[in-house]
Amino acid sequence: MAKVRTKFVCNECGSESPKWMGKCPECGQWNTLVEEVEQKESQAQQRLVGVLSKPESLSDISDNIEERLSTGNTELDRVMGGGIVKGSLVLVGGDPGIGKSTLLLQISNNIGIKGLKVLYISGEESAAQIKLRASRMDVVSGNIFLVSENSTWNVDAYAREMKPDILIVDSIQTMYNPDISSAPGSVSQVREATLGLMKIAKQDGIATFLVGHVTKQGAIAGPRVLEHMVDTVLYFEGETHMSYRVLRAVKNRFGSTNEIGIFEMGDKGLTEVVNPSEMLLSGRMKGASGSCVISAMEGTRAMLVEVQALLSHTSFGVPRRNATGVDYNRVMLLMAVLEKRVGMQLGSSDSYVNVVGGIKLNEPAADMGIIAAIASSFKDKEIDEGTVIIGEVGLAGEVRAVNFMEKRVNEAAKLGFKRCVVPRNNLNKLKDKSGIEVIGVSNVNEMLDIII
Ligand code: TYD
Ligand code: MG
Repeated sequence: MAKVRTKFVCNECGSESPKWMGKCPECGQWNTLVEEVEQKESQAQQRLVGVLSKPESLSDISDNIEERLSTGNTELDRVMGGGIVKGSLVLVGGDPGIGKSTLLLQISNNIGIKGLKVLYISGEESAAQIKLRASRMDVVSGNIFLVSENSTWNVDAYAREMKPDILIVDSIQTMYNPDISSAPGSVSQVREATLGLMKIAKQDGIATFLVGHVTKQGAIAGPRVLEHMVDTVLYFEGETHMSYRVLRAVKNRFGSTNEIGIFEMGDKGLTEVVNPSEMLLSGRMKGASGSCVISAMEGTRAMLVEVQALLSHTSFGVPRRNATGVDYNRVMLLMAVLEKRVGMQLGSSDSYVNVVGGIKLNEPAADMGIIAAIASSFKDKEIDEGTVIIGEVGLAGEVRAVNFMEKRVNEAAKLGFKRCVVPRNNLNKLKDKSGIEVIGVSNVNEMLDIII
């Protein structure tokens, strides 16, 4: 194989140099030089490409490439937009220990059982280690082929020889091209390895999954560099000390990006959580003040989530304010609305707002629930436990309509809630009340009169 030539390119100004330097001689920025492979295509080659691919009419291009293969896992299928697309490149990112390898091994099993071939390349664990994990997780398929490998040359050779249906590379940070002098995990290595895999995926129609570790400081090249190269980016999130995990699509060329999948990590690997609302509300204490259930949309699904607030007298001059799972500034704004429009004097209270279960709420439909929880804690009066509160709150204290109201109300009814407090504008348009009481309110004062 011909020796690959590399050069160092500044990320800021694009100037090139043959050696690495701490400071770019052109623009004077520090630590911006990144190694890149020199692409030397002869003019003849370039001309050839022009001859091979002629422009085609859009209506003539066949559209049957989007043949989906189920992963055997409904949560994952939904996040991916209906299953695995042939020849696609999927990046699964997440903190170390979150369960990426576990998830991919389980998918491998599901696909292997269908009689399709899976090639699992691990750069982190030995084949024996993976076997150990597999036998604990009841992975039984004989169609999973394991190899512990770090060189991209060999990965290339294995994939081309075996022609698997699914290729898994765990992780992209451990792969290296011996031609490039920088260490595995550096930007140039990661980029080169991904380019190579992309070629295999597209040419041979192999659906490829890449695992990528995210680091906080970005000291080693995180998968962010690759996001523009791959077709789909999935992020696996969750607290390592909590048992459930959320899989989120950040980019998807074959589906929507606002779907999430919820999994629970057990001693036999990951299991799908079919009814997330039930799980999120399972530890709820009855009759406590400052607790409010809201109906939030995650993708196309409604989910019931508990918001808690705790207000206590401050012992210092400046009250402490804290918000977990909701935007801090949004909570400050809602507290200001409570002070000004309702007349609650919150100035001498420390306040803590928390969304239970590590869920992050970022839609305005949670506003009214947050206000209700704060007011409930401030007055130390509980909110009726069968009530769900949904609505956006404006600065004048008015309650504004939100989308997907039918789905939200339906989810509340499904879990046995008796009553929903919703914006009045929504109530007028709501056709299906799912058999529960739905009350419309037009401002915060009206809402507080009803619930506390
Ligand atoms: P892993 O898939 O190795 O994480 P990643 O590849 O993202 O780094 O999962 C690691 C964690 O999952 C580890 O802390 C142990 C835990 N785990 C279980 O709790 N149950 C299981 O059945 C398995 C396989 C792992
Ligand atoms: Mg792993």
